Amino acid sequence: MSDIAKLQIGESTYEFPLIKGTENETAIDIKTLRDTTGAVTIDPGFKNTGSCQSAITFLDGEKGILRYRGYAIEELAEKADFLEVAYLLIFGELPTEEQLNKFYSDILDQAIVDDDVKKILDAFPKNAHPMGVLSSLTSALTAFNPSSVNVDSEEDMYKAIVKIMGKFPVLVAWTLRKKQGLPLNYGSRKLGYVENILTMMFQKPNDEYELNPIMINALDKLLILHADHEQNCSTSTVRIVGSSHAGLFASLSAGISALWGPLHGGANQAVLEMLEAIKADGGDTKKYMAKAKDKNDPFRLMGFGHRVYKNFDPRARIIKKAADEVLADLGVSDPILDIAKGLEREALEDQYFVDRKLYPNVDFYSGIIYRAMGIPVEMFTVMFALGRLPGWIAQWREMRLRKEPIGRPRQVYTGYNYRPFVGKINK
Ligand code: SDX
Repeated sequence: MSDIAKLQIGESTYEFPLIKGTENETAIDIKTLRDTTGAVTIDPGFKNTGSCQSAITFLDGEKGILRYRGYAIEELAEKADFLEVAYLLIFGELPTEEQLNKFYSDILDQAIVDDDVKKILDAFPKNAHPMGVLSSLTSALTAFNPSSVNVDSEEDMYKAIVKIMGKFPVLVAWTLRKKQGLPLNYGSRKLGYVENILTMMFQKPNDEYELNPIMINALDKLLILHADHEQNCSTSTVRIVGSSHAGLFASLSAGISALWGPLHGGANQAVLEMLEAIKADGGDTKKYMAKAKDKNDPFRLMGFGHRVYKNFDPRARIIKKAADEVLADLGVSDPILDIAKGLEREALEDQYFVDRKLYPNVDFYSGIIYRAMGIPVEMFTVMFALGRLPGWIAQWREMRLRKEPIGRPRQVYTGYNYRPFVGKINK
């Protein structure tokens, strides 16, 4: 294949270089398109448009492949732990034991939040959605850590990174405890990263919290599976906000807001609500399948379909297997899991879903495990954010280190042509 693309507009033919990735993906480099042709491209939802070149995550939607820095998600979920994967995503290589211990020690040094942040948390009503609270508190961290704003050096980036890796789990736990009317707490230097998350979330003020290895392993695996996913909606948001040099915390706050949407990370909450509705309807999955296919009905089968995966989401396979194991290990039997499996079976045999290559995605089964762990449904997307944090950080860091330009797309204008102002009131 030649290393150029030819484009004909009218009588003129233009040539643009082709870029090939390490997995043989091909891109047309149109950096000079408008200057040479006067034309721009249009691509709603960016289904065909690459925003960057990245070395962090590779996924192949047709083959159902997902790798972080070249390592297969199946192997990482099985053999690695979340903090190790976070280090891999952010810095590009698996850490030595010494590097991981220093990383975690630096994170623990920062796992304290200015007490004045509690005043912001107090101002929220108890029924505020945790994603809105978390996005606000994450942005507020900038006010308490001004040195972490427009950081340019790797050293300053590292300081900002360990700050948010330390403080974010505290904010997550406080967001939950505020809703539950529980006192705000801290973890311990004696505990691991995931152990601290569970302890801060579930510790009762009048009792020791007993860590359950099944819960630790299940959460560790779920966080790994959610850790990064190349240029998805929320990651693209983090990158474009970061491209204005708004700083890491502000960029993450924007990413949390993007993840909140039910078409994105908010789907894990929407899946449970859908399954509960089906259960309340006597398990009538056919009614919801019909709604999902009805073009006049905005309802979609939550947890199904994906912008990139036109095959099984490899994460869904792993989570589905883990759901069976975790519920059995915890001695939980949840009829919702049976409804989910029934719905999956029906959808995978339904021509509408087969024709559109709609398979279960990462959000379809994850909520079943979160629920078995005692996590309230409104916190499900917060748990997604907790997992995605290192991926967002890694993508922000790559964009900043590569000194990428500010993101500023073009448009095709379709409004009025020039018209003189003759005010309706002031003639
Ligand atoms: C995540 O991008 C990522 O990587 C995201 C993510 C990550 O890790 O960051 O993987 C996490 O967000 C997973 C997706 C979670 N969202 C949901 O489960 C919500 C339900 N899914 C859909 O809303 C939808 O599938 C999207 C948003 C995920 C993808 O939508 P696209 O790529 O824009 O596809 P589309 O809307 O153009 O749909 C193509 C066709 C349409 O029908 P036709 O117009 O061709 O007749 O498929 C239909 C859609 O109506 N369709 C669905 C459907 N998803 C797509 N019909 C019913 N139920 C669905 N779930």
